[in-house]
Formats: sequence, structure tokens, C-alpha cells
Amino acid sequence: MKLVEKPRKETNNGKHSKETAKDGQSLSSGKTMNNSRTGKEIIKKQSGQANLENYELARATFSWEDAKKEIDYLADGKINAAYNAVDRHIHNGRRNKVALYAVDAKNNLSSFTFQDIYYLSNRLGNALKSLGIKKGDRVFVFLPRILELYVSTIAIAKIGAVVGPLFSAFGPDALRDRLLDSEAKIVITTPELKVKLDGIKSDLPNLEYVVVVGNEDTLKQGEISYEEIVSGASEKLEVAAMDPEDPLYLLYTSGTTGKPKGVVHVHNDIIGQHMTTKWVLDLKEDDVYWCTADPGWVTGTVYGIFGPWSNGASVVTFEGRFDAASWYALIDKLHITVWYTAPTALRMLMKAGDEIVTQYSLNTLRHIASVGEPLNPEVIRWGMKVYGLPIHDNWWQTETGMQLVANIPVLPIKPGSMGKPLPGVHVTVVDDNGEELEAGQLGRLVVRPGWPSMLRHVWRNEEKFKEYFKIPGWYFSGDNAWRDEDGYLWFVGRADDVINTAGHRVGPFEVESALVEHPAVTEAGVIGKPDEERGEIIKAFIVLANGVKANDELLTDIKEFTKRQLAAHAYPREIEIRDSLPKTRSGKIMRRLLKAWELGLPTGDTSSLDDD
Ligand code: PRX
Repeated sequence: MKLVEKPRKETNNGKHSKETAKDGQSLSSGKTMNNSRTGKEIIKKQSGQANLENYELARATFSWEDAKKEIDYLADGKINAAYNAVDRHIHNGRRNKVALYAVDAKNNLSSFTFQDIYYLSNRLGNALKSLGIKKGDRVFVFLPRILELYVSTIAIAKIGAVVGPLFSAFGPDALRDRLLDSEAKIVITTPELKVKLDGIKSDLPNLEYVVVVGNEDTLKQGEISYEEIVSGASEKLEVAAMDPEDPLYLLYTSGTTGKPKGVVHVHNDIIGQHMTTKWVLDLKEDDVYWCTADPGWVTGTVYGIFGPWSNGASVVTFEGRFDAASWYALIDKLHITVWYTAPTALRMLMKAGDEIVTQYSLNTLRHIASVGEPLNPEVIRWGMKVYGLPIHDNWWQTETGMQLVANIPVLPIKPGSMGKPLPGVHVTVVDDNGEELEAGQLGRLVVRPGWPSMLRHVWRNEEKFKEYFKIPGWYFSGDNAWRDEDGYLWFVGRADDVINTAGHRVGPFEVESALVEHPAVTEAGVIGKPDEERGEIIKAFIVLANGVKANDELLTDIKEFTKRQLAAHAYPREIEIRDSLPKTRSGKIMRRLLKAWELGLPTGDTSSLDDD
């Protein structure tokens, strides 16, 4: 594919204001927000042709039925999301276009065309079938950002099995929770990562095979070589004709209570994935697109694989870790034009300074978008200064399966706001009874059910699924927000105890469970503590076992233990030792009180506190 250097677009930075959207978790629903924060600062819309040119018209006329025309259905109304992501490009002129630029941790580049991905996924699909995988079986992908992650995701979906994405930093506890609950039959992994499964295999009666990519010498019983099974497999595969409502992927995410829940998405999601990628990320034929999110999370699955490939875009994946110089070098090396990243990464780039930016050209970039946590207005202003481009915030969730609120290129940006609802979705702010609130009033951020990629189930947990719909007539996101007079939505905070650290959603219960597995810890309560760089960090309050003496070594050991068991992003960066933790009379730890103590806020109603 020819890489075209594009001149950087000029944009107008508008007037600067010091006002920002603040975390207002303590505000009660219905409170009127200070109208001076309705966004006096406006960054004018990007110049140039955008895929979605007329927002108002699209809001008035768009229907999801029309969008189906952009999707290839199979006979009899059947569908396959992987067919749309890969196979259809074999027949539409993109066969030899680069689908994937894979850059490894040592900066070696390999490229793969849509045809390459097509044949590789056909082979793996056949191999999985010969291992006994059938429609509806769960196959998990526990891989770093390498070619085989992309091929596996497509192959699993092609044969109608359910893809289970797993973040490669997960430890044994996080893996056990997901693989056990889903009754996964196969995990595809590497020699380095498979050791994390060693200690938990005996807890997983449904796990039949561990398929290992690379290094065949280290295989143990129950482990088979990826290369071996694909080498003998045919490259001809008939893609499974799926009912639009059949499951496509199962992604575990955290709530306030209990273990992570399995959010079920279906093949019909591809309609929403396709359209939102087109509108929000504005991908066009010549774009080279980089989504920095790992496909173990929803952003990396939807906007790192299915959405961009359905649009026929060339996707970049980088195996290396975050580092300002490597990231900028990658943009220059591959002439990246569209970049989808996260606020923590942008804050880290801002911290790395302006000087380093001048060492790179970055002049192929034409569109930058961000998601996952609040995007500070100062980061947008900084982006304007150093990249000459505004950063477009957008909002969605694992459960929504696609972006729902966005600063699409054609809209002026109000820094601090998440943007406006996309065409075809009704997102608004309501009170606890589901009544829509006036502009400027703080309430619950909700969505009218009916968009194509809404979660269909919580895996084998109908009760949890119903909880999303407890506000009559609405899907409730768990976020608090407000809407301004112009229809822009402003994020305020979570309505529950879910922690968002560096854009990673972490449930306090998971961290507390991992902490109490440490022999020195008898009780733990976990909260999110505001942090300039990461949005929030995890702070744990713990009670030590009788006779255990507190010292720095012990605290480091507890942190390392949690990191190992759960995941690197989910360990408590701060630990405070207490003689006891505040609990309700029924024995639940009062995280609200821990948070109020931490932040020096009023403790509110403590009538249920058990202080005997
Ligand atoms: O609290 C919101 C926050 O991230 C949550 C969704 O997390 P997750 O399911 O992991 O999905 C990540 C992919 C988007 C939301 O409930 N969040 C997401 N986007 C934003 C945000 N908070 C503020 N601003 C955003 N743009």
C-alpha cells in the first residue's frame, strides 16, 4: 500500500478558559451544575471532508436499518462479524492491502495483507474445529499484541465459537475467575504467559487444551503447538453462518460487587462497530490507524480489530510498552494518520515534554481521539500546541459495545465535555425515576435500549443483567453526568465504587479478594484515590493478622503479591494499615467512608455503621 504524507490540518484553538469539569461524585442527583462550566471555550471543527459531514441531518434521518447496507450478510439473513472484518475484502479490491502492521518489542516491523489474515485465520479455524470446537464454545485469547492475537480472534469468530479476550498482564486469580465462569475449552497463549495457568489448571475442569504459540520444546500435558495444528490444516474454510443474535465475544468487566461479570456481545454488533468507527475515528481508504489499547480490553477488540477492519483500514499494533520516544518514532515510521489513545497516555506524553515532540515530524497525523477516562481540557490545549490537532474525546463502555457519545470531527469541541450522542442513539441524563432532566442538572447517564451493540446478557447471570435496567425504560451506565444547553454531555464521576485507573476499570471487590489471600492480611477495603496522571490510583486499607508487624518490606510484599495474582494495573499503589475497618451491621466494608476519610470530605450518613 502506498503511504501518503498528508499536510497537517490547521485548527482554531478558540478562547481559553480555566474552567474544567470536576469530579462531583458527592453531588446529589438533580443538582444544577454551575452554568459557567457549560463550555465557553470552543475549539472549532476540523477542516476537511469528514465521513459524517452533517451531524444534525444524520441525527434526524439515520436509522440502523439503513446501516445494514454497509454490512455483508450471508444467505438467509445470517451474518458473521469476522467475515465482515476480513473475508469480504478478498472480493472487494482490498485483498492485497495491508491489514496489519505489527511492530514487535524490538521494533521489527512485519506487515500482513487482508489475504494473509484470511488464509491464516482459515487454517486456525479448521485446526480449532478439529480439536472439537463447535459453535458457541468459548475460546480465550491470552496473547501479547502479536499477529496471532489478531488471527485467533478472527478464526474463533469465523467458526462461530465465542472469543474471550484476556489482557496479557492478568495473573492467576484474574484468569481463574474468567476461565472458570465461562467454562472455556481452549486458551491460546505463549510460552511466557502459559506459566500463569500452571497453578490454576486443576481448578478448570472444562479447559481441554492450551494452544501455545512458538517454542514447542516447553509443551506439557494438555498443551499443543499452535504452529503444528495450523501447519496441517486446510486454508479453505466455510465461514459459520450465524444468527445476528448469536454471541461473538465474551468480555469480563468489573462492577462494584462480586467477581468480574461476563458481558456478552453478538455478531450483529458489527453494524455499530462499523458505523461508529467510520464516524468517530473517521477512517478513510488511505489511513494508517493506530489504536493503542490492548485487545484484551474492549477498546482494543472493537476499535483495534473489528471496527477498523470492517472499514478496510490498515491497523497498526505495537508490542512494546509505553515510552514517549518509541510512540512518536512509530507514528513517523508508519506514517500513522489516525490515532486512538487514552487520557493517561496523553498525560504521560505531556509530562515527557514539548522538546521531545520537536524531534519527530508527526506530520502525517490528521485525527486524534481519546477514550476511557476524563480527558482534561489542559491536555487538549497542549495537544493543539504540540501536535497542531485537537484531541477528540468520546464515551462508551464494555457493555455498550460501541462509542455512543463523541466529539466527531464535524462538531466543535468543548474541552472537558465527552461530546454529543451519535446518530441513532438516545443518550441523556435522568433522575432515579427515569425522568429526563433539564440541561445543567446532574443525574444518571442513561441510554434508550435499541442500539445494535448493547450487551445481550451477562454470562449466566440474569440478575446482574437486569441491574442495568433498574431505571425504568433505560440502560443505566453507572456514570453520573449532565447535559448542557447545546446537547453536549459532561462526565462527572461513577455512581458506584468502580475504580478507573489509567483507563482500566477495576472492581474494588477483586482487589480486596486478592489482598486477603495474602497470609498477613485479614481484612481489606479498596477505593480509587484521585491522581493527576492516572486519573485514580488504587488505595487499600488493610487490617493485619494478629501478631504481624507492619514494615515497608511487608507492604512491598503485599503489593507484589496482588500484582502477581491479579494484574499489574490492579495492585494498590498505596496501602494504609488500620486496626479495624468501618463496616455496616451486615458486615460490608463501607468504602464510601474510607473514601471520605481519604479525601477529607464529610462522612455523611453513618447510621448503618457497626461501631460497637
Ligand atoms: O466511567 C466511564 C469511563 O470508563 C467506563 C467504561 O469503562 P470500560 O467498560 O472499561 O470501557 C472502556 C472503553 C470505553 C465508563 O463507565 N469512561 C469511558 N470513557 C470516558 C469515561 N469517563 C470519562 N470520559 C470518557 N470519555
